[in-house]
Amino acid sequence: MKTKTKTAFICQECGYNSAKWIGRCPECGSWNSLVEEFSGEKKQRSRGFCLDTFSKPEKLADVKLENKLRIQTDIAELDHVLGGGVVIGSVVLIGGAPGIGKSTLLLQVCGALNKKGKRILYISAEESAQQTKLRAERLGNIGDDLYIVCETNLDVIFEHIKKIAPDIIVADSVQVLYLDDISSASGSVSQVRECASRLTILAKNSGIAVFLVGHVTKEGSLAGPRVLEHLVDSVLYFEGESHTNFRILRAVKNRFGPTNEIGIFEMTSFGLKEVLNPSSMFLTERCQEVSGSAVVATMEGTRPLLVEIQALVSPTSFGLPRRRTTGIDFNRAALLVAVLEKRGHYALANQDIFLNVAGGVKIVEPAADLAAIVAVASGFREKPISASDVIFGEVGLGGEIRAVSNPELRIKEAKKMGFKRVILPQSNLKNLSLNNKKNEIELIGVSAVKEALDIIFS
Ligand code: TYD
Ligand code: MG
Repeated sequence: MKTKTKTAFICQECGYNSAKWIGRCPECGSWNSLVEEFSGEKKQRSRGFCLDTFSKPEKLADVKLENKLRIQTDIAELDHVLGGGVVIGSVVLIGGAPGIGKSTLLLQVCGALNKKGKRILYISAEESAQQTKLRAERLGNIGDDLYIVCETNLDVIFEHIKKIAPDIIVADSVQVLYLDDISSASGSVSQVRECASRLTILAKNSGIAVFLVGHVTKEGSLAGPRVLEHLVDSVLYFEGESHTNFRILRAVKNRFGPTNEIGIFEMTSFGLKEVLNPSSMFLTERCQEVSGSAVVATMEGTRPLLVEIQALVSPTSFGLPRRRTTGIDFNRAALLVAVLEKRGHYALANQDIFLNVAGGVKIVEPAADLAAIVAVASGFREKPISASDVIFGEVGLGGEIRAVSNPELRIKEAKKMGFKRVILPQSNLKNLSLNNKKNEIELIGVSAVKEALDIIFS
């Protein structure tokens, strides 16, 4: 009897499942992303590496917490992003563009954990053992008790795991792993999802901490992103331009800590180095006497960061004025320019406006609104803002300035970096719980855009 093989068309971006091929995924809207995958008749449900064959319910009150729930990696920036170290039995997905430094970071983590006496299995599925050895020599002091295996078949890898019984596993990368009982090609959504899910089951059952490396597609998402993101406990993205040496590690999801935390690294010839004072790094190359430059105190997770917003305003030489932004949302910037025109009475309709956040940082919070507006105003009037000013505040459509979160932390960071004056929302200033009795830093509360501009340019 002829057995019928079932096939399904699966979107490689979001995992959407369809019986027939469609040009555009109805779920995520990406074009030409559906690929035919075989689903076999009787798919074996994986149990992974279950230590207890049967699960048994217990009372939540009786669940015992182990003492050493977290392992510090001693790479302070990574521990910070993870919320205080790697949780045992958790799965961390590290995503990023090729060549950004994922393998380098994980090898350094292995080295640090190795020194603490942890047994580690490094699954190098993309590079040979020699290549990894060369990299390790470059990084120096990786330790001798690190096991490496160059293998892509997950069943074989499970055999190795049983023999070695590691505390930590690194799978570099999850996209090239495959399982024999799934017939679709490695790298397809079914393979990646099943491999990641088996490793997750393993982590949960055995208390092994697992790091997965995931590649990012051209569009900037992890291949099969949504299917992996809900499986794992933490998702960290490695960001940064390949032409600069700075790398930002950002927690997009974290079951065991705050999200949106960032860690900043610098790529050196001996691997990644932590940047301990990021604000100073982003401000070093700042020209102080140039118009259109404002320093904003923004929050990245729970950490304040000072960055420079630059604006270039010049008369339009073509019919339509050009507006470009990098590091700030384009629509937000358009809105702010409109507020400046209407409420500040600036004639910007025939001006090209370019906004840029220096150092490749992306600012998403509205606390940068006021600084962006002031930068544009300064660029337009060709009047520099005092180099010792820090500005923050959200701007509403009426030109009013609204309170933002964590004003104390922002002010403290400004003080630490030697700034003399902070322009902040009046409502923040009223409720401030900050010890500034000696007036080490001048705090000026403003409630409207016009008022802020008058103070800054007076
Ligand atoms: P890698 O970790 O291989 O990136 P990924 O695994 O994310 O693809 O990083 C490789 C890049 O980092 C490569 O361009 C070389 C550079 N690099 C250094 O500059 N210094 C170093 O010590 C190492 C190991 C790599
Ligand atoms: Mg790599």
